[in-house]
Amino acid sequence: MTLSSRVESVPISGTLYISEIVRAMEKKGKKILRLDIGDLNFRTPDHIVRALEEAVNKGMTHYASSKGIRELREAIAQVYERRYGVDINPERNVIITPGAKFALYAVLYTVLNKGEKVLIPTPCWVSYEGIVRMCEGIPVLIKTEGEEYCITYDLLTKHYDEEVKAIIINTPNNPTGKIYTLKELREVKEFANERRIFVISDEVYDSIVFDGEHISMLDLMGLDEGCIIVNSFSKKYAMTGWRLGYIIANEDVIRSVNKVIQQSISCVPPFIQWAGYVALTSEESQEFIKSMIKELRVRRDVLDNGLRGIMNITYRRPEATFYFFVRIPYKGSSVEFSKRLLEEHSIAVVPGKFFGGYDNYIRLSFGSITVDELRIFIDKFKEAVRHLSS
Ligand SMILES: Cc1ncc(COP(=O)(O)O)c(C=O)c1O
Repeated sequence: MTLSSRVESVPISGTLYISEIVRAMEKKGKKILRLDIGDLNFRTPDHIVRALEEAVNKGMTHYASSKGIRELREAIAQVYERRYGVDINPERNVIITPGAKFALYAVLYTVLNKGEKVLIPTPCWVSYEGIVRMCEGIPVLIKTEGEEYCITYDLLTKHYDEEVKAIIINTPNNPTGKIYTLKELREVKEFANERRIFVISDEVYDSIVFDGEHISMLDLMGLDEGCIIVNSFSKKYAMTGWRLGYIIANEDVIRSVNKVIQQSISCVPPFIQWAGYVALTSEESQEFIKSMIKELRVRRDVLDNGLRGIMNITYRRPEATFYFFVRIPYKGSSVEFSKRLLEEHSIAVVPGKFFGGYDNYIRLSFGSITVDELRIFIDKFKEAVRHLSS
């Protein structure tokens, strides 16, 4: 019996690959410093958990609209209207999904015909390539320029041909922690407008910002121009396991995505959506985000100060997210470096190869590690870099 070639060509998830090895080591009693996890060690705030319990008790346990409960769609539209001054119709322009990952899948499934191309500036999140392939599209990875990972009109133009249907922008970016500048985003818009291609903007880290300000693609580009926003509750409210996200797009895209939802998952559980509604609309959530950022900023600074003292590594200080993308002085591959770091020094990181082929980089996550553990990490990492690069 043979399996579909469609799935055979899909790469494995790099982050899940590492966490499976780590789990096996931890089962044997090994203590691992986990800087591989793209998750946060903050509890989902109590008021959000309570909202879920109340919704279950009230009987929100049946099928809901495939587009999502109206209260949540309205709240999302209001947030964007307030923040960016754009007109969003909750009925026609918003749909609720089980997380941003599925949102991206549903969008690309909706937008792409077999063999059409998607431009992906790199370094990029590990899953874009796989999701495009699952939708029978062709990912075109574009190495951004210089130490600042810049996107320019000219760079995008060099990779364009008639088969290109969309571009994925991720700001703030995983793994670099960079917020794309207004100039860069304007060039993306100009490039996309001239060629009439979709801009899919993944903004899941829009609230985890330490310096500067996140700019939404929606601030520059209308939904009718092909701007599609993907966002989720995972990172800002420490709700990664809840699986709740959304898409904002023009009416045609939303109508098509709605069919994908109807014929796959039917709907997102309504009690989870209700908890999302409370997360989005209550004051306590803003307090939670503030305190989470305060703690993450301390971790960012501790890591920044520590890494600065390590010879032969370079990185760009992240102004958002909870990642550092670090260039390593190692002659072999980033997968080999990461495996040796894990097996010989009990440190888990994600190889740069998985973020668009950056084989002399690793990604460090400070989302799920304490400040004390970070200090231990810095000493051990210093020693490991010396040992592995000699
Ligand atoms: C850039 C980016 N987009 C999307 C996602 C997926 O988010 P969700 O948990 O909402 O599916 C992640 C998760 O790590 C991410 O880093």
